[in-house]
Amino acid sequence: MQARESNREDAPAPSGEIPRHIAIIMDGNGRWAQQRGLDRTWGHRQGVKALKPIVKEAARMGVEVLTVYAFSTENWRRPSQEVDVLMTLLVEFLARETAELKGEGVSLRTIGDIGRLPAGAQQSLAWARAETAEETRLILNLALNYGARDEILRAVNRWVGESGEKELTEDTLSRYLDTAGLPDPDLLIRSSGEYRISNFLLWQLAYAEIFISDKLWPDFDPAEFRQAIRSYQARNRRFGGLG
Ligand code: IPE
Ligand code: IPE
Ligand code: MG
Repeated sequence: MQARESNREDAPAPSGEIPRHIAIIMDGNGRWAQQRGLDRTWGHRQGVKALKPIVKEAARMGVEVLTVYAFSTENWRRPSQEVDVLMTLLVEFLARETAELKGEGVSLRTIGDIGRLPAGAQQSLAWARAETAEETRLILNLALNYGARDEILRAVNRWVGESGEKELTEDTLSRYLDTAGLPDPDLLIRSSGEYRISNFLLWQLAYAEIFISDKLWPDFDPAEFRQAIRSYQARNRRFGGLG
C-alpha cells in the first residue's frame, strides 16, 4: 500500500527553502456546504476551523507572515444574513483562539479598511492585536474588508495629503500600503480550483508563485499546505532575469 502523507503534527516539514510570506485566498466554503445540502454559513463555520491547523503548520515550518483573505471589499454584496454570520464568526474566532495563538508565538494583525467593520468586530480585533503584539514567531495577517484597489487608493490619497512630495516611488508606495514593513508574498495559494486573484494584494503579488488547490477551503489541511510548499520549492524564480 502506498504511504499517504500524514496530517500529524510531527510529519516532516518540506526540506528546502520555506517561503517567508504566504498569502491564501480561502475560497470554497459556500460550495462545501451546498454539496452537503447545508446553508452556506455552515461552510464558513467549517472554514474557520480549517484555519488553525494551517497557522500552526506555518509557524512550525518557520514561515514569517501568513496573510489570509477572510472578507473582501466586494463581499458586502452578499446577503446581509451571510455577512452578519461572517462578522460573528470573526468575533468568536478571536475570543476562542487568541490565547492559543499567543501561546504559539503568533502576532495577529489586519490589512484592509477595518474602520468600516461592525464596532464589535473592531473591538475584538483591537483586543487580539494588543494581546499578541509582543509575539514574533509568525504574523497572522487577516485581510478584512480588504480590496487591493481600495488599499492602493487609500495609500496614494494619504501620501498626497501627508508627504508634500511630487513623485511617488515604489518604495514610498509600499510604505503607505497596509502591508508596510512586510516582505512581499513568495507564494499565493487559492483553494477551490478558481484561477483568479479577486482583488487580493495586486501590488504585492508581482512576483509571487501561484498554487491553486482543488480542495474546497474547509477540506484544506496541513498535508495540502505542505504540498503547496513542495510545489513552490520546485519552481525556478527568475524575477525577470535569467535565473
Ligand atoms: C470563501 O468562501 C469565504 C469568503 C469569501 C468569505 P465562499 O463563500 O466564497 O465560497 P464559494 O466560493 O461560494 O464556494
Ligand atoms: C475571494 O473569494 C475573497 C475571499 C476569499 C475572502 P470570493 O469568493 O469572494 O471571490 P470571487 O467572487 O469568486 O472572485
Ligand atoms: Mg468564493
